[in-house]
Amino acid sequence: MNGKTICITGANSGIGFHTAQELARAGARVILGVRNREKGENAAVRIRTEIPGAQVDVFPLDLSSRKSIESFAGRVREATSSLDVLVNNAGQMSSRFETTEDGFELQVGVNYLGHFLLTRLLLDRLKQAPEGRVIHLSSSAHYGGKIDFERFRADKGRYKGMPAYAQSKLANVLFASELARRYPDIRSYSLHPGVVGSNIVRPDKLGWLFTIGWTLFKPFTFSPKRGAKTSLFLATATPAPEPNGQYFDEHQHPMKPSRLARDTQVARELWETSERLWREAGATI
Ligand SMILES: NC(=O)c1ccc[n+]([C@@H]2O[C@H](COP(=O)([O-])OP(=O)(O)OC[C@H]3O[C@@H](n4cnc5c(N)ncnc54)[C@H](OP(=O)(O)O)[C@@H]3O)[C@@H](O)[C@H]2O)c1
Repeated sequence: MNGKTICITGANSGIGFHTAQELARAGARVILGVRNREKGENAAVRIRTEIPGAQVDVFPLDLSSRKSIESFAGRVREATSSLDVLVNNAGQMSSRFETTEDGFELQVGVNYLGHFLLTRLLLDRLKQAPEGRVIHLSSSAHYGGKIDFERFRADKGRYKGMPAYAQSKLANVLFASELARRYPDIRSYSLHPGVVGSNIVRPDKLGWLFTIGWTLFKPFTFSPKRGAKTSLFLATATPAPEPNGQYFDEHQHPMKPSRLARDTQVARELWETSERLWREAGATI
């Protein structure tokens, strides 16, 4: 990966951290997109300590804020004229209804819409790379997901965290395949990393009962390092997997995603709606 530049969102912990670390080990310059500067600098120090000479930059990124996404994209654009890989990794799980700064439901806002805007703002840099790639961290939870555009903004009826998370992860798969259709020069893949014992389950977001259950279950899950394997495979595989736009499982095998995830009409509608929502929120895309 010498000479390649890779940008990873949510790279200070979990799957994102190990993805960044292994890509730095392979010689790539890695840009860590993090919402907490201190956690980001600590992650960079850990990488540089283990891999002397590692090229690591830490730029602030809060995917729940259009302004922060735009400023991060600006920093990346200043830092490099071509971007080889963008790993849309950051994610949140929550059982409480919350909104982003721009008024989107938090999970769809951070996990999907934030990454949609970021990818759009970096498209020209990805196109400048010989074979730009975008990797979208989805989940097997997408199999239970449905797209309900009304729920992108408002708390419609009683909020249920899991369906909202599943919706955001279904959107990741649909975005990956639609991006491949619209920009065939860019490689775009979605994936399920496995059930990974990371920090994704947090008491302030999911409550203590769920968190205690998750802690007891953790010994049976993949380590975050193991969870990074499919992201690493898709970032580095030569030649790039064919066909473009596929969904992969935690063993790096291409898998058929859900019926809805394969619906090209829904994918197109999702793209157009996302564009409209961001324009209404003030983005220039
Ligand atoms: N763990 C699993 O079993 C599993 C299964 C399927 C899919 N996934 C997906 O894998 C991805 C990585 O998750 P993980 O398991 O490694 O969890 P994690 O350890 O909690 O990592 C998530 C990362 O996302 C960052 N993040 C959260 N909200 C953000 C925001 N608004 N702006 C910027 N960054 C934000 C977090 O930053 P902070 O540290 O500052 O909070 C953290 O660095 C997620 O997309 C998740 O949905 C995970």
